[in-house]
Amino acid sequence: MNLLNNTHDGACVEGVALTAVAAQFGTPCYVYSRAALTDAHASYQTALAGRNARICYAVKANSNLAILNVFARLGAGFDIVSGGELARVIAAGGDPAKVVFSGVGKSRAEMRQALLAGIHCFNVESASELELLNTVAGETGRRAPIALRVNPNVDPKTHPYISTGLKTSKFGVAFASARDLYRRARTLPHLDIRGIACHIGSQLLDPQPAADAAGRVLELVDSLAAEGIDLQHIDLGGGMGIRYHAETVLPTADYLAPLLARLAGRKEMLLFEPGRSLVGNAGLLLTRVEVLKPGEEKNFAVVDAAMNDLARPALYDAFHEIVKVGAGGTASAGIAANMGTASETRTYEIVGPICESGDFLGHDRELALAEGDLLAILSAGAYGMAMSSNYNTRPRAAEVMVDGDQAHLIRRREEVAQLFALESVLP
Ligand code: LLP
Repeated sequence: MNLLNNTHDGACVEGVALTAVAAQFGTPCYVYSRAALTDAHASYQTALAGRNARICYAVKANSNLAILNVFARLGAGFDIVSGGELARVIAAGGDPAKVVFSGVGKSRAEMRQALLAGIHCFNVESASELELLNTVAGETGRRAPIALRVNPNVDPKTHPYISTGLKTSKFGVAFASARDLYRRARTLPHLDIRGIACHIGSQLLDPQPAADAAGRVLELVDSLAAEGIDLQHIDLGGGMGIRYHAETVLPTADYLAPLLARLAGRKEMLLFEPGRSLVGNAGLLLTRVEVLKPGEEKNFAVVDAAMNDLARPALYDAFHEIVKVGAGGTASAGIAANMGTASETRTYEIVGPICESGDFLGHDRELALAEGDLLAILSAGAYGMAMSSNYNTRPRAAEVMVDGDQAHLIRRREEVAQLFALESVLP
């Protein structure tokens, strides 16, 4: 589903005009669509219909309580990577019994917290973690349900920063040592072996690597069964990509088809940990053009959002489509004259106000801009707000969720005083 639709009120998310959102809540502002979240979730449900499967939304992609709550109401489980994310899931009404806990460096305190909450499974990523979890479970008087996250050494063909299934990666346990670790786990008194997990990377467009990884995981599952180690679930991680620009993106069912074909007839429950594909295209970042600044080689449009709000362009050189969704009206005549008429299309660098050249949101965008115009930075629902910071003492953006013709504020814009409220000067 397209997040933006054009009506006589201008660009809308569901039934709400973005100019109205900007007027009510200010900019920069993240805007999400409940219908788009629901649609994305439904595409997984449809693809997995008739299977014993669970969707565990990867909280890291966007951890706002309202987003988690939408997925909890749809019956989803959650993939977490910290005690903080577990607290959010519970605060949002999520069921801890449907939570899997991933991550290479879980602390004792986080293990204890998750044991007491009664999560579904710990995805264990090292031999040391296995031993520590057994100890903490003993101390806590609980048994720890575990899966080993194995590293199938499959090239996911994506950005190196978000490839996680290669031998060189810090994630998971090497395939070659997994069998011995399961044997070890079987001897530890406070662990229950539940399943196996793998996650090979993110923004995957080719379905083959995930299917290949599943194939490798199945070989291991079967050889474990042969020695009496029976697994109840297979967790295939997340990673399905979304359309940011001109990528060809398969519908969820087509992306999952080769993988599901390999898993036909299996008795184990299947878990998936999608993040980006559930929220990425369900959100945009609304921002206003502050200043148009002609340069000798480049024209700059300085907007009120910056790399602290959306780090992906600066961090990964990621492309996000940027469209004009409302005209300004505050353009200063002098600068407008400098830049030609407001409606003239020019090539702009879309940049933020932060004091770094890396603070850009888009390069070489053909847009007809005037100061005060509203822009929407698309596909910003995943790893946008979740990776935001307060760099340059910039309060984090407001977040709004549209549901039909209603716009709900789901996170207030931060205030400057809050940003240093935890700090103190020397006596
Ligand atoms: N499961 C595990 C164990 C993960 O590490 C991840 C993402 C996911 C699930 C969810 O993957 P997804 O379905 O969202 O691809 N900040 C980067 C993405 C980092 C992904 C990290 N792990 C970005 O903005 O592109």
